[in-house]
Amino acid sequence: MACNVSKEAAMELVNLRRSIRNYTDTPVSEDDLRTILEAARQAPSGENYQPWRFTVVRDQENKDFLSMVGKAGSGRRFTSELLSRHIMERFVNLKDPEKRAKAFKKLTSGDVSAFVNQADVIILISGRLDVWDAPYDTSAAIENMCLVATSLGLGTCWVGAATLDVRDERRINQYFGVPAGYKSFGMLAVGEPARYPHARPRHLLSEIVYKEKFGVPYYEKEPENKEA
Ligand SMILES: Cc1cc2nc3c(=O)[nH]c(=O)nc-3n(C[C@H](O)[C@H](O)[C@H](O)COP(=O)(O)O)c2cc1C
Repeated sequence: MACNVSKEAAMELVNLRRSIRNYTDTPVSEDDLRTILEAARQAPSGENYQPWRFTVVRDQENKDFLSMVGKAGSGRRFTSELLSRHIMERFVNLKDPEKRAKAFKKLTSGDVSAFVNQADVIILISGRLDVWDAPYDTSAAIENMCLVATSLGLGTCWVGAATLDVRDERRINQYFGVPAGYKSFGMLAVGEPARYPHARPRHLLSEIVYKEKFGVPYYEKEPENKEA
C-alpha cells in the first residue's frame, strides 16, 4: 500500500493536537467542517456498524445550553473527586497551597468545561444504543475529527462532562431531539484556537508497554523519541 503521508507528518499531527479551550470568533468554514465530518465517517467501527450520528451545533443559544450542562457536569465530577480524594493523585506535584486551592476551585466550579460555547461549532456525538461497540466506535470517530481538524489549523476539545451523568445526557437528548435508541456519548468543540497550550504530560513508554505478561516492561529504558 502506497502512502504519501510521511511518518514525520503523521507524528507531527498527533503531537500537535491539543485540547483547545480558548477560541477566536473566526468561523469554521463549511469546507473545513465537511472535511472534519468526513474524517469521522471514515473511522473504524465494530462490524462496520457505523452507529454514530453527528449533530452540528452553531446556534449560540444551543451552544450556551451545552456549556451550561457541561459546566454543571464537570463541577459535580470534580467535586466528587475532591471529596473522595482521587483528585490528589493528579496534583501530587503541585505543592503550593495557594495554586492548589485555585486549581481545585476551577475544577469543582465546572468552569473547566464551560468554554465550549466559545467555539464556533460544537459537534454532539450520539450513537445507536443497540450496537455493542458504539462507545468505542464514536471514540474512534472523535479522534479522527481531532486529528484532521489539527491538520486544518483548527482546535478541538473532546468534552465528556455534559453527557457523563445519564440525567444530563437525557436533558441533552430531549433538547436536541435525539430519539430513543440513541445515546449521546460526548461533544467536540471546534474552532480557531486563541491560545495554544503546552503539551500535557504523558506516561513513558517504558512505564506503559509490557512484554508478554502485564507488568513486565517491554522497554528497559525509555526508547529514543525520534518523533518529538
Ligand atoms: C473521553 C474524554 C473526555 C474528556 N472530557 C473533557 C471535559 O469534559 N472537559 C474538558 O475540558 N476536557 C475534556 N477532555 C480533554 C482531556 O482533558 C485532555 O485530552 C487531556 O487533559 C490531555 O490533554 P490534551 O488533549 O491537550 O493532550 C476529555 C478527553 C477525553 C478523551
